Amino acid sequence: MTKNSLKSGPDELGYYGEGENAMGGMAVGETLMPALHELNKGFEDAIKDQAFLDEYAYYCKHYIGRPSPLYFAENLTKNLGGAKILFKQEHLNHTGSHKINNSLFQILLARRMGKKHLICESGAGQHYSATAAVAAKFNMPLIGVMGEIDIKRVNQNIIKAKHYGAKLKSVPGSLKEAITFAIKTWTSNPDYAYIIGSCVSSAPFPKIVTFAQSIIGKEIREQSMAQEGKVPDMIVGCLGGGSNFAGSIYEFLDEPSVKKIGVEAAETAALSNGTPGIMQGMKTYMLQSNDGSKSLGGSSLGAGIQYFSVGPMHSYLKNLKAVDYTFATDKEILDAYKLVAKTEGISAALEPMAGAAEVIKQAKDKSKDYLICLSLCGRGEKDLDTIQEHIGKDFE
Ligand SMILES: Cc1ncc(COP(=O)(O)O)c(C=O)c1O
Repeated sequence: MTKNSLKSGPDELGYYGEGENAMGGMAVGETLMPALHELNKGFEDAIKDQAFLDEYAYYCKHYIGRPSPLYFAENLTKNLGGAKILFKQEHLNHTGSHKINNSLFQILLARRMGKKHLICESGAGQHYSATAAVAAKFNMPLIGVMGEIDIKRVNQNIIKAKHYGAKLKSVPGSLKEAITFAIKTWTSNPDYAYIIGSCVSSAPFPKIVTFAQSIIGKEIREQSMAQEGKVPDMIVGCLGGGSNFAGSIYEFLDEPSVKKIGVEAAETAALSNGTPGIMQGMKTYMLQSNDGSKSLGGSSLGAGIQYFSVGPMHSYLKNLKAVDYTFATDKEILDAYKLVAKTEGISAALEPMAGAAEVIKQAKDKSKDYLICLSLCGRGEKDLDTIQEHIGKDFE
């Protein structure tokens, strides 16, 4: 990491940036501090250990199936009649999304740190099934915590996680409540590692998750150079907590010539409609009541992007205007799903279709040699019932 670079990461206290505008930090009680410091040390030691990094690279290739292809979406490109569109196909990873890059990294880290039990939270169930798969592979018991609302709508992932031997803990509410419960359990059990699913919460979690997911952007650079002779002019991705998008853009943060657009769900667009506040261990943009005592936000069809808040690195990048953030409505997400399915034969998860909705807007008025890369971070299986319910007739 270089000084004076957007890639220099947070300071020792976990802050991105300085002064009043600094985001992130460790906004937690004293009892949590030892566990967070232990984790930070474990991470910093691990990333200096070449054997550990080689082990991660080995399982990325042989277990996840990396590198994921950078695919020229030719029919969609023709249909929109503007920029050349590339899909970074994270949906082809084992377990169907980008989540496994991070689950694998953190479980290898937990093993290296001598942890015996795992706990994770999940919104879409995607992080739960990915973590459960890796936990099975390395023979470690896992508890997955999910909100009741989310359990109802995405139970395919839950069934798979059960087959992998994980145990589900249901809590009232949604992702926010699941994170709170998982953190509490983790800190009262020193034997546990908390395998967090996105680049959110107290330091050092945002840094660790971003590190694990940055493999996406590194591959984008290599593949785009090899296939297109240049890096993308624009990278677009969806955000819940922001990990797939962080991983896609991290490599390019010091290159303003690569335009970056992050897309949240309209109903939980913390970066567009929120204000800075402190909750869940971090200072970041969030949807909150005027006195900051309560989180707000509606629901989105994309379970994984229905999160009232966002990872602090994104809040920092927004304040610096280094990255643009916008949002997509449920209707735009469904329209994008239809178009991608019909033109490319890809049934994508609803979350990345928030990104696709923005690509559709951006591509039209660009020249044919303008390259837009979309982080296609999940496959559609978990959302088929929802899609069928809302636009099923459109396919008959
Ligand atoms: C398929 C998919 N995409 C995106 C997300 C959003 O997470 P993040 O913003 O951390 O990439 C999720 C979260 O569950 C997901 O399942």
